[in-house]
Amino acid sequence: MMNFGFNNNNIFEINTLNVFLYDKTKINEPEEVLKKFNLEADSGILNNLISDSGEAVLFPAVSEGKSATLLFYPLDQSKPNELRNSASRLIKYLSGKKFENIYINLYPALKNPSVSTFRELLEGMRLGEYKFDKYKTKKDENKSKQLYFVSSFDLEKMITEIDLLFKGVNFSRDLSNEPANVLTPETFAQEIKKAFELPSTTVTVMDEKKLKAMGFNLILSVGNASSNPPRLIKIHYKPANAKKKIVLVGKGVTYDAGGLSIKTTPGMFEMKADMAGAGSVAGAIYAAALNELPYEIIGLLPAVENMLAGNSYKPGDVLTGYKGKTVEIGDTDAEGRLILADALEYANELKPDYIIDLATLTGAAFVSFGFLYSAMFTEDKTLAETFDAAGKSTYELVWQMPLTKEYKSLLDTKMADISNIGPRHSGAITAALFLQHFVDEKIPWMHLDVAGPSIKNDILDYYKDYNTGYGVRLIYQALKSGKL
Ligand code: BES
Ligand code: ZN
Ligand code: ZN
Repeated sequence: MMNFGFNNNNIFEINTLNVFLYDKTKINEPEEVLKKFNLEADSGILNNLISDSGEAVLFPAVSEGKSATLLFYPLDQSKPNELRNSASRLIKYLSGKKFENIYINLYPALKNPSVSTFRELLEGMRLGEYKFDKYKTKKDENKSKQLYFVSSFDLEKMITEIDLLFKGVNFSRDLSNEPANVLTPETFAQEIKKAFELPSTTVTVMDEKKLKAMGFNLILSVGNASSNPPRLIKIHYKPANAKKKIVLVGKGVTYDAGGLSIKTTPGMFEMKADMAGAGSVAGAIYAAALNELPYEIIGLLPAVENMLAGNSYKPGDVLTGYKGKTVEIGDTDAEGRLILADALEYANELKPDYIIDLATLTGAAFVSFGFLYSAMFTEDKTLAETFDAAGKSTYELVWQMPLTKEYKSLLDTKMADISNIGPRHSGAITAALFLQHFVDEKIPWMHLDVAGPSIKNDILDYYKDYNTGYGVRLIYQALKSGKL
C-alpha cells in the first residue's frame, strides 16, 4: 500500500508532482490554479490537459525559479460515486509514475470539500490500488510512494481510520480472490486465526469431530463429499465498552460445485467466491476491532466445500438440523441456506441484540440486482434504515426485498418440516424465508444476499479486476453510525 499523509497548508510543492483535481465542466479552473500559485507554464498547457487517448497529461512548471510537475485531473461530478471511481483511476495512473512524493490537491474542483469527500477520495484510492498478484511470477514493479493530501482539514485521524478499515476490506478481498485449491475450510480457518491475533478478540475453530458432537448435521451433510472437511469458525470481539451484542453470520462455501445437482463449468468459475459472505464478516470484525468500535461482535462462519462423491448428500434426503428441525433436500446446489440454518440456530442461543447474515445465496438475487446492490431482507426498521444509509454513504448499496408471508408455503413438503427449494419464481425471497424459519423471531434479523456485489465487475472502475469484499465498509459504517 502507498503511504498516505497530509499537509495542511494550501501549498505548492517544488521538485515533485502536484495533482489538481478539477471539475470537468469548469475548464477555467486549471487557469485559476496557475494564477493562484504564481506558476509560469507554457501557455499551451491549458488546451492540452487531456491526451488523445483520454489520459490526463503531466506538465512541467516553474515557481519562483524552481521546477515542479503538474497534473490536472478531471472529475465528472455529474456521475454518482465519481470521486471513488476517479480516485481509483488516479492512483493506478500515479503508481506507474516515477515520483516518490506526490501532492494531491482538491482545490479547485471541490472548493468546499467536506469530510465525506475526503473519505470518498481516500477510499477510492485504497480500492483502486488493491492487487492480488501473488500468483503472477512476473509482478509489476511497485516502488513505495508517499502521497500527501493537501487540505485545511486535519486529515490525520481519518487517514489512520481508513487505513485500518482497509486492512479489513483487503483481508476480505484476499480471501474471496484466493482460489479454492488453496482456500479450503481448513486453510480458511488458519487464515482467520493468523489474522485475529488482536486484543479483545478470540477465535475458536470447530472441526468435524466437534461439529458431529454438537449436532451441526446440515453443515456436515453439505461438506460430506469433500476431502476437505468442514469447519465452523467463531470470531469473538468483545471490547470493555460494548453497548450491544451483534452476531454476524457469513456463508463460507469455499467452493460450490453444486454437489450432485452439479453446476455447468461457467456457473462454477466464480464459485471460489462463494465464501465471500464469510470473508466480509471476518473483514468487518477485523476493521471494527482495529478501530475499537464499541460493539461486542460474534462472527459465525460455517465453512464447507460443496462437492460430489459416493457419500454426497442427495436430492430426496431428509436431514435433521442443529435444533432438530427437518429439511427435505430438493437440490444440493441450494447448500448455502443449509449451512446457514445451523449457524443461525447457534446464533439464537447466543441471545444477541441483532443477527445479520451475509451470503452469496442465490442466482435470483444476482439476476435481479446485478453488481451494485445486495438484496436486503429484514422486518426490523432500525436495521433497514441503518443499512440503507450506510449503503448510500459507502456505495455498498442495499435494496430491500419483501419476506412475503404467503410464499412460505412454497417451501412446504409432506416429507419434512421444510424443503430447501421452492419453485423457480421468487427464488431470492424463498431462500430468505428458508433462513427465517431458523431464526428466533424475537431477535431482530437481517439477511443480505450478496451474490452480485461480491464478484468483480465492469460497473465500478475499482472492482474491474478482483472480487470486491462487499460488506466490510457497509457493516463498518452501520456500526460507526451508532444507530444500532
Ligand atoms: N452459490 C450459489 C448462488 C450464486 C450464483 C452466487 C451465482 C453467486 C453467483 C448458490 O449456492 C446456488 O447455487 N443457488 C441456487 C439455488 C437453487 C438451486 C434453488 C441458484 O441460485 O441457482
Ligand atoms: Zn449452490
Ligand atoms: Zn453456493
